Amino acid sequence: MNKYAPIGIFDSGYGGLTVFQEVQKALPEYDYIYLGDNARAPYGNRSFDVVYEFTLEAVKFLFDQGCPLVILACNTASAKALRTIQQQDLPNIDPNKRVLGVIRPSTEEIGALSQTRHVGVLGTTGTIQSESYLIELKKFAPDVQVSQHACPMWVPLIENEKYDHSAGIQFIEEDVRALLEKDALIDTIILACTHYPVIKDKIQEIAGKHIQVVSQGPIVADKLGQYLVAHPEMEGKLTKNASQVFYSSESEIVFNEKAARFLGYPVAAKHHSF
Ligand code: DGL
Repeated sequence: MNKYAPIGIFDSGYGGLTVFQEVQKALPEYDYIYLGDNARAPYGNRSFDVVYEFTLEAVKFLFDQGCPLVILACNTASAKALRTIQQQDLPNIDPNKRVLGVIRPSTEEIGALSQTRHVGVLGTTGTIQSESYLIELKKFAPDVQVSQHACPMWVPLIENEKYDHSAGIQFIEEDVRALLEKDALIDTIILACTHYPVIKDKIQEIAGKHIQVVSQGPIVADKLGQYLVAHPEMEGKLTKNASQVFYSSESEIVFNEKAARFLGYPVAAKHHSF
């Protein structure tokens, strides 16, 4: 029998739960460990070096828990840390382990969804400034015109559950309008931050029915399924007892309360200090 070998899912905070939920729904047989670095979130306005350092710590922790595969369910970490970890750190830590991000799977799919070939990207300052979506979409959908807009207030609003308050709604409205003012032909908006699906209905209402607002969770889940089919050497290592373990760098009491609201069922997280 295989030694406990779960899939690790990492996010700066609660946002990655929107990816975890979809992945777990699509691939329920596997074991999962979710790690939220809530104590140090948000990552969105942090420097490249800090996001890389924090993300590498998280990946090493998940490897130490037995994960052969870690998903960075955070665009900011995927944009700023994934490549360095894959190319520089993994060969030294363990060349048989894998770390995957959320930007590549999303940009592979998003081009196919737009009729007008005009796409909008909403993300954190870190993700938008990295231009990762512009670069990747150019590869997979070169004919698509991409406009992006950073929403630095959204993750704090979501982490602190203030997005329903009038000031929160005002920020959301301003940012969605700012994106749409850049290009009136946008028919598809990608939520390039795993926190944003929490406010998807509000974004959709502001954007209007003629625009489709796309969350990454289902795309990432679908691509992970394809990855596991294409990589039987990884798939064979993963254990399948349908277990879920949660870690947070914040107090587990706070995490449990908020995560239960995200997921719709109670969780009993463990604390991990970095
Ligand atoms: N969920 C993270 C992302 O997708 C949020 C980043 C942050 O902590 O600012 O980018």
